[in-house]
Amino acid sequence: MSNTLIVYYSHSGNTRKMAKIITEQLHADCLEIIPQKPYPQAYNAVVNQAKHEISQNYQPDIKDIQIDLNKYSTIFIGSPNWWSTIAPPILTFIMQNQNHLINKEVIPFCTHGGGGFGHIPQDIKRLCKNATVLNGFANYGSSINLQEVKKWLSKLDI
Ligand SMILES: Cc1cc2nc3c(=O)[nH]c(=O)nc-3n(C[C@H](O)[C@H](O)[C@H](O)COP(=O)(O)O)c2cc1C
Repeated sequence: MSNTLIVYYSHSGNTRKMAKIITEQLHADCLEIIPQKPYPQAYNAVVNQAKHEISQNYQPDIKDIQIDLNKYSTIFIGSPNWWSTIAPPILTFIMQNQNHLINKEVIPFCTHGGGGFGHIPQDIKRLCKNATVLNGFANYGSSINLQEVKKWLSKLDI
């Protein structure tokens, strides 16, 4: 049984791809966060909706989590970079589970369209109080650089 969990949300598949690679590399468990109401597929529609939601700190309902977070000491949290921060479903996950993140190692990762991490690590540090937030990894788009991911994971003290 693994003590490492990879939690992620993905709208168009890039972050899912990265989450799967990390999961395989670490033989970890994986949890996809799914909003109750899917975001629109049309780019402009999702960009506008996300902008509005993020400006309001909106926490959309997400599907129930069928996993006991207490089992894990290390939790990776992955999101697409949306307006330089985490996507709202990940905000919901963190806010609903803040108590389960205390005293854990939390490791952010994201995929992005050129903006890198934006302020995702800072936001995760602010939201996951009393967690130890380790060095994360931001990957451009859908082509995940396996060597770079392996290098990053090998440097983490987990
Ligand atoms: C609503 C929205 C906002 C975005 N904002 C940014 C941004 O601020 N900076 C950036 O580099 N990429 C931005 N992107 C691009 C995504 O971060 C990128 O395509 C990511 O790999 C998508 O991950 P996914 O396939 O897991 O959903 C945005 C995309 C969407 C849909």
